Amino acid sequence: MHLRRIILDTYEDVCRAAADVYTKQLEEKSNSVFCFATGSTPIGLYEELVRRYEAGNLDFSKARSFNLDEYYPIKKDHPQSYNYFMRQNLFDKINLSKYSLPNGEASDAEAECLRYDMEISDAGGIDLMLLGIGHNGHIGFNEPAVSYPMGTSFVKLTESSINANSRFFSADEVQPTEALTMGIGEIMRSKKIIMMITGEGKAEIAMKLFERKIHSDVPACFVKLHPNAIVFLDRAAARDILVFEENLKKERIKAVQEWTGLRG
Ligand code: F6R
Repeated sequence: MHLRRIILDTYEDVCRAAADVYTKQLEEKSNSVFCFATGSTPIGLYEELVRRYEAGNLDFSKARSFNLDEYYPIKKDHPQSYNYFMRQNLFDKINLSKYSLPNGEASDAEAECLRYDMEISDAGGIDLMLLGIGHNGHIGFNEPAVSYPMGTSFVKLTESSINANSRFFSADEVQPTEALTMGIGEIMRSKKIIMMITGEGKAEIAMKLFERKIHSDVPACFVKLHPNAIVFLDRAAARDILVFEENLKKERIKAVQEWTGLRG
């Protein structure tokens, strides 16, 4: 059983391929329920979706969306909130009927997690889930751990994620160290999953994801168990995978040559 993947030359190619999945999804089901991600990786995809929408080739009017995660606590209008990010990059630019994110302003984080799960379930679950991947293999803010939550949960971020996200916060801003994230169970219940992995910085974790193993400390490995998941990588992120497979091929050819040589 292999996790399906497509390796494309550039980041732009990955964004276009991912956008094609949305085009197809909306053709098949105009009232699709999406789950979006934030971070640097999907920005080019969102630009492509906006372009297609503006060109009249995409209509989100019957679709609605959720998001994977949100810092906690954080105001919706804080420039670093995921709510703000999504409005700036996508929601204010397309005609989506409704969007929801975990509420970083809720007074009770645990109650907000339960409310968010109910909202997702009332919407009929997620049709198409978009995932990025952290350098440590996290998906959403499900950080490497011994056990993983099923539903939305209130989590502490790891040093690795805090450091990775510190690039977005100025020195005088207090960076949140906690977040609300959709759980692994909810992610896995999505009907389809697409994951985007781009840039050389993700080469190592991409290699780990495609090893023929389930690493319990790489939450993204759960996606390997999903029946309808696909990963789009650019060449930079696939660097180690391509080197590994090239070496494997050479070894096989050498082994066959040695064997036939022995017989000759
Ligand atoms: C954000 C999220 C995270 C990111 C991951 C990669 O909503 O779910 O898991 O996908 O941290 O972030 P970038 O794309 O910035 O490398």
